[in-house]
Amino acid sequence: MTKFLKLNRTGDKIPLVGFGTARITPEDTADIIYTAIKSGYRLIDAALSYGNEAQVGEGIKKAIDDGIVKREELFVISKLWNHFHSKDNVKSAFDVTLENFGLDYIDLYLIHFPFATEFVDPRSTKLTFFNDENKFALKRIPIHETWKAMENLVDLGLVRNIGLSNFNVQSILDLLTYARITPAILEIEFHPYLLQERLITWVKSQGIEVIAYASFGNTVFEEVPPTTAHLPNLLTHPTVTKIAQKHGRNNGQVLLTFATQQNIVVIPKSIQESRMKSNLDLFSYKLDADDIKELKALNANARFNDFFPNTYGFDLPIFE
Ligand SMILES: NC(=O)c1ccc[n+]([C@@H]2O[C@H](COP(=O)([O-])OP(=O)(O)OC[C@H]3O[C@@H](n4cnc5c(N)ncnc54)[C@H](OP(=O)(O)O)[C@@H]3O)[C@@H](O)[C@H]2O)c1
Repeated sequence: MTKFLKLNRTGDKIPLVGFGTARITPEDTADIIYTAIKSGYRLIDAALSYGNEAQVGEGIKKAIDDGIVKREELFVISKLWNHFHSKDNVKSAFDVTLENFGLDYIDLYLIHFPFATEFVDPRSTKLTFFNDENKFALKRIPIHETWKAMENLVDLGLVRNIGLSNFNVQSILDLLTYARITPAILEIEFHPYLLQERLITWVKSQGIEVIAYASFGNTVFEEVPPTTAHLPNLLTHPTVTKIAQKHGRNNGQVLLTFATQQNIVVIPKSIQESRMKSNLDLFSYKLDADDIKELKALNANARFNDFFPNTYGFDLPIFE
């Protein structure tokens, strides 16, 4: 049993718990997506840059064909990668995504990052931050051009909702001055080490709902920014363990409930069926005010998905 948030403009219902698809090998993806849907997930967070969209589509198709779910019960998300921000490329990159999924429309399309890089073939098997010469090359394309092309996808009936990922208040403020269609969602890194309370409160006051990624904080990152290297693993942090034991839950559930209880959507990924199920089972208990207070006290303004040479090979302070 999962809960929903209602999105602005369309009134579409987005589940508070969804399934992430980053870092799942293409060979395993179709089966994992099928199992996730069978386990009860109805929200799938995908992206062209994850390199497994076609296999996500396969898993979805099998689940629909087997009668586990109807298309309209699913909430499918994808994201426009940085190489495709120009008005001529948004639709053609999106067409690859739609073909990958084998669907007529998707529920939400996000601009993945607030910067544009040089064009690379959207059918390239491995999209990265770099161009064909393996260089990080920014391109002079304003976000208003990209947003207009995103709005066009809504007009064409190909996308029900559009939104943003990894944008900050300054860039959203600017976008709201010209947007014909207000973003429905902002997808950002969020966990007790990175609360961003002012950002989230403001974004929600604009009618924009929030999806959290990296709910387990530094647990999933092989390389972390130097400024965060001192922080202990969030998933096994004694405070998280203490709260989990108090409620008879596991640590992952505590970190996910920390978000959902604040009406923030979570999208954990797991290749293990037992974890898929426990990550979805968040509404049969409640964190109390003291738990939330203790978890919030862990805030270190620590962002792990940031562009440092030791993490992504280039330095770009987009969140400053
Ligand atoms: N918009 C963006 O820029 C952006 C950036 C990053 C991620 N995302 C999205 O967010 C999704 C989730 O974020 P993420 O991939 O950073 O990390 P995550 O899904 O929060 O964590 C995934 C890792 O945690 C493990 N795990 C899952 N459930 C667990 C539990 N209950 N206890 C212990 N370990 C558990 C998984 O291992 P097992 O698979 O072995 O269980 C996996 O290695 C991604 O899949 C992607 O869809 C978006």
